[in-house]
Amino acid sequence: MTDLLLLPGDGIGPEVTRQARRVAEVVAPDLAIEERLFGGCSYDEHGLPLTEETLAAAKAAKAVLMGAVGGQKWAGAPRDKRPEAGLLNLRAGMEVFANLRPALCFEALADASSLKRELVQGLDFMIVRELTGGIYFGSPRFIEELPEGGKRAVDTQVYTTAEIERVARVAFELARGRRNKVHSAEKSNVMDSGLLWREVVTDLHKREYADVELEHILADNAAMQIVKNPKQFDVMVTDNLFGDILSDAAAQLTGSLGMLPSAALGAPGKPGLYEPIHGSAPDIAGQNLANPLAAILSLEMALRWSLDRAEAADKVYAAVVRALEGGARTRDLGGALTTEQMGEAVLAAL
Ligand code: NAD
Ligand code: IPM
Ligand code: MN
Repeated sequence: MTDLLLLPGDGIGPEVTRQARRVAEVVAPDLAIEERLFGGCSYDEHGLPLTEETLAAAKAAKAVLMGAVGGQKWAGAPRDKRPEAGLLNLRAGMEVFANLRPALCFEALADASSLKRELVQGLDFMIVRELTGGIYFGSPRFIEELPEGGKRAVDTQVYTTAEIERVARVAFELARGRRNKVHSAEKSNVMDSGLLWREVVTDLHKREYADVELEHILADNAAMQIVKNPKQFDVMVTDNLFGDILSDAAAQLTGSLGMLPSAALGAPGKPGLYEPIHGSAPDIAGQNLANPLAAILSLEMALRWSLDRAEAADKVYAAVVRALEGGARTRDLGGALTTEQMGEAVLAAL
């Protein structure tokens, strides 16, 4: 049986997951690790970004670590066969509806952010992004030619009470183990799905989580507050699209998009999907320049949340801290280490 399924993917995906694998082999040498094609490379080989076999392997593993998918090469592929569609199908197929995206500012990187040190020093902010609903999955969805010329494109935002409630529950539960504060971000001022979102979160809070501080915030204001005063946030729960955008902004607070890991979780006992939040970074792919820490920290989350290896996870985390304190920096962090050298710095710190 596979413990950890690795899906390196495209672009920098294979470069950063290779370093995560080296770390896994040291801290948990007995883990059964398997690797499969996924994304554009799977499309090239099998005509599909996610084959049935790979989805079955993902559901049968204890945890899945994905690198990144996508790239110019597949931009012209049919939409349902693009690497990104494979990722959406993987998330939906694994039913991982709650995506935890922790924006943590490591002390050693407090000066690497584009924001002033005092704004980000000590930052520990968790975004809980709804991952299997909303406009990413709503139908109808199409582009059509108009008789009068031009085209019309339609995407649909859909949320049900149950979908909102289960992800909000994850946010409240997490907050109880942290600083006990949840912000719920939506656009209830313009969207019906936003109105329902606010109603369901308010209800659940009243019924079961009245001990947690809850604040509703409009998503546009949330974006502004994240760059104005990010340390006011503990946990933020939001929908699929807003969560995608807000988490890229939050990532930059930590010094680089290459720092932010994520864990996508479903029902207890089901495998989690772990992925850096960054993409395949075509601009630096193949050059050994990418920061592998988001992938290594995603492994750390997998060890902790799905693989029951808290001790190994602690070791990985401590090694990342030590490597950064020792001055290890890839180019995105203002340094000159290659992807491989950063992996080695973490291994040396283990
Ligand atoms: P991106 O995240 O790939 O890159 C944005 C910028 O951040 C680039 O300048 C890149 O060099 C930099 N960057 C990203 N990760 C880095 C790392 N680990 N180290 C150093 N620098 C890093 O976003 P994009 O350019 O908008 O998208 C490129 C492709 O990736 C697209 O095909 C997109 O669909 C896909 N994508 C995939 C995922 C995923 O697989 N989870 C996530 C986002 C984007
Ligand atoms: C992410 C990415 C994906 C998303 C894409 C590649 C489908 O941007 O994981 O943040 O939009 O969810
Ligand atoms: Mn994204």
